[in-house]
Amino acid sequence: MSEFSTVLSETRRFPPPPAFAAKAHLTSMEDYRRLCAEADADPDAWWAARANEELHWQTPFHTVCEWEPPHAKWFLGGKTNLSYNALDRHLATLGEKAAIRFEGEPGDRRDVTYRQLHAEVCRLANALRALGVKAGDRVGIYLPLIPEAAVAMLACARIGAPHSVVFGGFSAEALRDRMNDAQAKVLITADGGWRKGQVVPLLENVRGALAHGVPTIEKVIVAQRTGAALPALRENEVAWSALVAAQPATCEPEWVDAEHPLFILYTSGSTGTPKGVLHTTGGYGVWTSLTSRWVFDLKPDDIFWCTADVGWVTGHSYVVYGPLMNAATVVLYEGAPTTPAPDRFWDLIERHRVTILYTAPTAIRAFMRLGEAHPKKHDLTSLRLLGTVGEPINPEAWMWYRETIGGGRCPVVDTWWQTETGGILISPLPGVTITKPGSATLPLPGIHPQILDKQHREVKEGAGKLFITKPWPSMLRTIWGNDARFKAGYFGEHPELYFTGDGARRDADGYFWIIGRVDDVVNVAGHRLGTAEVESALVSNLKVAEAAVVGRPDELKGTALVAFVTVKAGVPTTPELVAELCAHVTKEIGAIARPDEIRFAVALPKTRSGKIMRRLLRDVAAGTETKGDTSTLEDLSVLAALRNDDE
Ligand code: PRX
Repeated sequence: MSEFSTVLSETRRFPPPPAFAAKAHLTSMEDYRRLCAEADADPDAWWAARANEELHWQTPFHTVCEWEPPHAKWFLGGKTNLSYNALDRHLATLGEKAAIRFEGEPGDRRDVTYRQLHAEVCRLANALRALGVKAGDRVGIYLPLIPEAAVAMLACARIGAPHSVVFGGFSAEALRDRMNDAQAKVLITADGGWRKGQVVPLLENVRGALAHGVPTIEKVIVAQRTGAALPALRENEVAWSALVAAQPATCEPEWVDAEHPLFILYTSGSTGTPKGVLHTTGGYGVWTSLTSRWVFDLKPDDIFWCTADVGWVTGHSYVVYGPLMNAATVVLYEGAPTTPAPDRFWDLIERHRVTILYTAPTAIRAFMRLGEAHPKKHDLTSLRLLGTVGEPINPEAWMWYRETIGGGRCPVVDTWWQTETGGILISPLPGVTITKPGSATLPLPGIHPQILDKQHREVKEGAGKLFITKPWPSMLRTIWGNDARFKAGYFGEHPELYFTGDGARRDADGYFWIIGRVDDVVNVAGHRLGTAEVESALVSNLKVAEAAVVGRPDELKGTALVAFVTVKAGVPTTPELVAELCAHVTKEIGAIARPDEIRFAVALPKTRSGKIMRRLLRDVAAGTETKGDTSTLEDLSVLAALRNDDE
């Protein structure tokens, strides 16, 4: 609440620094207004022009958009390939330019030029084809943040095999569920990856996942990352190096339809199981390429560091596809931000002369807490632009980012978007927009967000639910294997308007301020989690009778997870049980879903119809003074009786 009131009273304004604006791709509010007006006047012509500017089309499209709510198709008839667009197009002139500057957590470094990346992608693409992977077959990717992750994604794109990347922090169980849902044929992993000085046992997790049954997986490809040699491989496993060694370094791309699936990425929703967000090729390619240039103002000599892992959509759109289609140099850092020392990020920026940094508010708040001595030790003057994503940024963190990291000289772009939107939809344009700390500001040209009240009337100024009222090229097409869930989840509120799940406020200048999720999804440290997922993990422990998980505002993580748990008769509610349940959730989902607090209750407060009263629990969680005192027994049914709170 205090955050919201700070935001309401925020009066600071920051126009783009003139030196920045003078050289930016888009330089004035007139540019912005003209683009918006053109996009609105003749959307088909405008989008067609964007699509032809951004991508090479092997076969031109004949229809720009077919919109039969809730299903959109873009650039129909067109054939393209995003691996070709990200690599082959640049070879003649920029083949020797670094596409990836990799730094491993232990300090090892590797530059990969566009030519080398192209060759590696082609080799792996050929190898996948040799394994029988055809266009349309799904390939799982469970890798650390190493160049092989980008190679694997682009190799899949090259042969038209949709990839499904699973974040390396997810557990064997979570991996198994996702691979089963995607019905992946091949899974690409590594012997491990480095995180906080430890090896994340990726291959072991894969073996664990497969032991529980992922019948569709025929082969596991194992990249070597941590050891001097790979461990002994099993019959269904093959070493990446051996597999690609004999393959040629060229590979004819599969020219796929614009609507051919590019990837499935699992994300959390209101119900217990993660949903496979499906993105297709053409529209996603056009929008990620265009927004990379508009929002990050990418220029040929930029060193672009988006700190996201490829396991999240930000890593798909702004580590791999968008920047590489723009022939940028991207920095890839494998490990934790504070390993081996709290200044690792700043050290990296100084040594690699990073010009654009894109990270999450949680990271910024964590760095604030560590103190400005760490960034101050380093020369950060190479930076010219700063971006944030993933959760609302509090004005204090925004200011710290701008002043301490950006030296007051770099525009800050607070970019709002989602796994489902494929690319950034609401964001400042760094050479154009006057920014206000805490606001994602204005929609990009061609994008039509609206805040609606309960009766679906537009709120021009004030708060409500955030909708996108017209289709855009990189919108999700469906939920993999579950179109009903797609319809209900995004078009259930209104049959023709995409509902974001977010609440937002619009101010007198038309600026958007994202308040946060209005559904049972929480953003914990920039990671999106469904409270129902964590609940179902908890109740899968035999000692648990019922569980309700809610978010509590947290200074560092944005939101912390509080679990209210009732246990089965006779089970003692001890600190040991707290530890056991935390470990259980980590095993079922991953450490990111581990509750920050577990509170035992003899009963959960319910409405007469039996629904758990989450609003009440959220209040209880937020009001707690007994943080850490997890053994208290709370009779929440008494609380419920005191409050006639029917949700
Ligand atoms: O609640 C919004 C928040 O993150 C959600 C999307 O999460 P995910 O699909 O994991 O994608 C994150 C990276 C694109 C949104 O519904 N969110 C994202 N960006 C912002 C934000 N909240 C406030 N400000 C933002 N800039």
